[in-house]
Amino acid sequence: MSQKEHDPARRALLRQSIALAGAAALGSASGPAAAGNYSSTSTDTPSSDPHPALGRTLTRIGFGSCSKESKPQPIWDAILAEPFDLFMFLGDNIYGDTRDMAVLSEKYAKFGREPGFVRLRNTTPIVAVWDDHDFGENDAGGDYPFKEESRQRFFEFWGEPADSPRRGRDGVYASYVFGPPGKRVQVILPDLRYNRTPIMTLDLAGANYDDWAKAKENAGLLVPGPYARNPDHAATMLGERQWQWLERQLEVPAEVRLFASSLQVLADFPGWEGWINFARDQQRLIDLIRRKGANGVVFLSGDTHYAEMSKLDVNVPYTLWDLTSSGITEVWPVTPPNANRVSEVLREVNFGVIDIDWQGPRTRLTLSIRDVAGRTRMSFEIELASLA
Ligand SMILES: [Fe+2]
Repeated sequence: MSQKEHDPARRALLRQSIALAGAAALGSASGPAAAGNYSSTSTDTPSSDPHPALGRTLTRIGFGSCSKESKPQPIWDAILAEPFDLFMFLGDNIYGDTRDMAVLSEKYAKFGREPGFVRLRNTTPIVAVWDDHDFGENDAGGDYPFKEESRQRFFEFWGEPADSPRRGRDGVYASYVFGPPGKRVQVILPDLRYNRTPIMTLDLAGANYDDWAKAKENAGLLVPGPYARNPDHAATMLGERQWQWLERQLEVPAEVRLFASSLQVLADFPGWEGWINFARDQQRLIDLIRRKGANGVVFLSGDTHYAEMSKLDVNVPYTLWDLTSSGITEVWPVTPPNANRVSEVLREVNFGVIDIDWQGPRTRLTLSIRDVAGRTRMSFEIELASLA
C-alpha cells in the first residue's frame, strides 16, 4: 500500500469530492431521513441515483461478492489489472455476523484497510449493495433488530452522500444510469434483506439441521439445504414499498439493465437462499419485466461461494440469464443442484466481468468469470437484440 493510499486526509478529500460530484450530478435530493422515517417512493423521481461516474460510457464492468475481511484477498491484483469502468459489490462484502455495532464497524474498518480494495476504491467507480453477512447475520431478514443501525454503517463505509435519496428509503436499494443515450447502462441494486419476511425452513421433525445433514451424508444421500419454497402470497424479500420503486425504475430508458442481486435470481434450487424461496417475488419480477417492456435485462448475483451461469427460456418475455460470481475469498465445498445451470461450476475464488461491445443494433455483451490469476474460466456472448 502506498503512503498516498494511507493518507486519511486525502481519502477524506476524495470522499468529499465524490459526494459533491454526486450531488451536482443529481441536482436536488431529499434530505437525510431519521431512522424509520422514510420519504415516500411516490415522490422518489424515477431517474438515476447520484454517482460521480454517471457520465461515463461503461464498456467493462466487474463484480464480486463474499469477501471475508479476516482472510487473505489475493484476487485484487487480477481485478485491478482489468481495469474496470465500474466495479459492483453484490453483498457479503464483509462478514459482520453480529448484533454489536462496534464489531460491525471494526470489520468494515479492517476491509477498508485491505490494500487491494484501497487501490480499487482510489482508482475505480464503485457501487455496492449488501447481503446477509454485511446486513447483520447469516441468512437474516427484516426481523434482524439492528437493521437501521447497520444501514447507517453501510452508508458510512461506502461513502453515500448525506443528501442521497438512497438514505431516505426502507433499505439500501438503489438504481443508477451510466452513459449517454444509445449507450446507457442501468444498474439496479435491490435490497433483499431489510424487508424480507422470515424464510421457510424444511420440516425436520425437530431435528437439528447439522445432525440431519450429517446423517444423510453418512447414508450416501444428497444433502439439501435447510430451506424451502414459501408458497405464501404475503411472503416477500423486497416489501411493497421497494416493489413500487422497482416498477418505476423499469420505466427509465436504458439500453442495458444490469439487475445486480445479492441472491441468485434464476437458480431453481430452494435448499439455500435464492429468489426461488420467495416464489411470488420471483414470478412478479419476471412479470414486471414483461409488463414494462423492459429491454436489456441481465441478472447478476453473488452469495453462493461458487460461480455459474443460469438461464431461463420458458414463461419469460425473452431469454433470461443470471451470472453468479462468488466469492472474493469464499469457496463452497460441494456443488448444489440447479436445473437452470448452463455452465460448469467454478468452486474457486472468482470475479465476474461484463464486456459491452457498443455497436448500435448489433451491440454484444460478453459475460465472463475470471479466477485469481485473471484467467477466463467461463464466458458467454449475448446479443443485446435478443434481450427484447
Ligand atoms: Fe449471503
